[in-house]
Amino acid sequence: MRMTRRIQVQNFKGGVGKTTTALHLAHGLSLRGKRVLLIDLDHQANATKGLGIVVKDGQPVFYHLMVKDMSYKEVVVEARPNLFVIPSNELTALAESHIAAEMGREMYLFNKLGDVTEFDYMVVDCAPALSVLHNNALLFSEEMIIPVSMERWAVDGGLDILKSADRMGRVYRRQPVICGVLPWKVDLRTNMTHTVVQILGQAYGSRLLPQIRSDEKFKAAAAEGKTIFEFDAHSKGAQDYGLVTDAVLAQEVDNQKARRTESGSSEKEAEHGIAERIFASA
Ligand SMILES: Nc1ncnc2c1ncn2[C@@H]1O[C@H](COP(=O)(O)OP(=O)(O)OP(=O)(O)O)[C@@H](O)[C@H]1O
Ligand SMILES: [Mg+2]
Repeated sequence: MRMTRRIQVQNFKGGVGKTTTALHLAHGLSLRGKRVLLIDLDHQANATKGLGIVVKDGQPVFYHLMVKDMSYKEVVVEARPNLFVIPSNELTALAESHIAAEMGREMYLFNKLGDVTEFDYMVVDCAPALSVLHNNALLFSEEMIIPVSMERWAVDGGLDILKSADRMGRVYRRQPVICGVLPWKVDLRTNMTHTVVQILGQAYGSRLLPQIRSDEKFKAAAAEGKTIFEFDAHSKGAQDYGLVTDAVLAQEVDNQKARRTESGSSEKEAEHGIAERIFASA
């Protein structure tokens, strides 16, 4: 039986590279021969569109998985070899309001997909909101990647994710561990970038993933429904996400159960303290 890694990509700050990271990690892993399921939980459907998937009228999407009791096999789309997607559209917002009223609303995704073993990786892309769907992703995932752009509020948004995971852990006695914190859209010509990179280094140390440099080619790639690996395999972005993919793959040797137990709330408070100090002196 496969050991499936379930990874949520999240930060409560908007526009910090969550979708780009979920998409490129998923595609990067599939290009390295892993069987990957990308789950789009955002009604903006950027991950779905970013792969060039056009959802037709009446096509089963995430909504049907949650609300119409369809199986994932009826909903899933094969986007690339080894890369499967549960597509989203505006109906995802409706799915959220539907399950919000139901008993066990935070367990829906886990109950649907928690025992699916045909994938090596499941990667979840979320909207930047403390919502029922975010909580579903938290309970479903065993690991989290937190992209942080080079600004104060993105650091805070990342810390807030840890707090919400901590609260969830206290209620449900399960919470994801940090797979990695990802410095995103790094441009070392700016002072703020140096400040944020310093904060992240001190707060997260070995849990930092390789940096993603600023690269305008992502926008052009997304407009064509291509990943950066397809759009320009030699670009900075393709190199950087290649390294992130390798770093995530290298963790496979870790015992996930052991990692589950690390990090408590006091550690998170300490991390917050570091950010406060460095921003105050910057
Ligand atoms: N390395 C990069 N350098 C510059 N721009 C980038 C880079 N990666 C992605 N982008 C662009 O930045 C924008 C925001 O990225 P993305 O959609 O991944 O953020 P997000 O956190 O998912 O946003 P939201 O909160 O709306 O879901 C997109 O237009 C994307 O094409
Ligand atoms: Mg997004």
